[in-house]
Amino acid sequence: MNLVFLGPPGAGKGTIAQKVMEKYSLPHISTGELFRKAISNGTPLGKEVESILAAGKLVTDDVTIEIVRQRLMESDTCDGFILDGFPRTIFQGEALLKLRPIDHVINFVLEEEEVVKRLSGRRIAKSSGRTYHLIYNPPQLEGIDDETGEPLVQRDDDKEEAILQRLKVYEQQTAPLIEFFRERSLLRDVDAKYSPDRVFKDVVRAIGLE
Ligand code: AP5
Repeated sequence: MNLVFLGPPGAGKGTIAQKVMEKYSLPHISTGELFRKAISNGTPLGKEVESILAAGKLVTDDVTIEIVRQRLMESDTCDGFILDGFPRTIFQGEALLKLRPIDHVINFVLEEEEVVKRLSGRRIAKSSGRTYHLIYNPPQLEGIDDETGEPLVQRDDDKEEAILQRLKVYEQQTAPLIEFFRERSLLRDVDAKYSPDRVFKDVVRAIGLE
């Protein structure tokens, strides 16, 4: 099954994608995570995109489509995948539908006030991308990753100025994809304000895997 997770920053796309990946063995492809890995590995791609991510702006369509195209050529995607954070512009949406057919686009619906709370309290383990929240999903030991023991950090783009910029970019460039996919009968709205377990169940029901 080929899935796209769409929604504002911090709506819980990565959290739920992780759960779907574990239960249904579908690879979780997060373009944000691919960029963050490239940055921490110091690759030419990482150097090119580092300041763009920190500012909360979008990487160019050409660069993003190319990394997704290459990732979708890998054999683990033959039986399906979860695309998280791609597409983010109408141009990327059109490119994706030429690359692979899509079965469902889950639209994570969440109010801006809650988005800001989730992003400002998020902490991550850099090596794995594992995500926590200071209040909603704290680690067992404060500030420490449950599995590796490494210190948790705040993403550069989870600071207030970048959050506001990301929300603006979402409204202007990504939200139009809601109608784009609705017109193609691919959109499944899911209310993301509930607990991760409840949202996971609603997603599973929306894609007919229940
Ligand atoms: P990306 O990494 O994709 O960021 P994003 O879309 O802004 O999404 P987030 O990772 O911030 O949030 P999420 O929805 O996954 O929420 P999460 O599960 O972590 O992109 C980063 C950057 O890369 C972009 O700004 C851009 O520069 C670049 N980029 C990426 N893709 C691109 C593209 N296609 N084109 C161009 N540029 C691109 O949850 C958030 C927090 O809430 C966590 O703390 C979590 O624990 C908590 N939480 C989750 N679910 C719940 C719940 N149900 N209840 C309570 N708390 C919850």
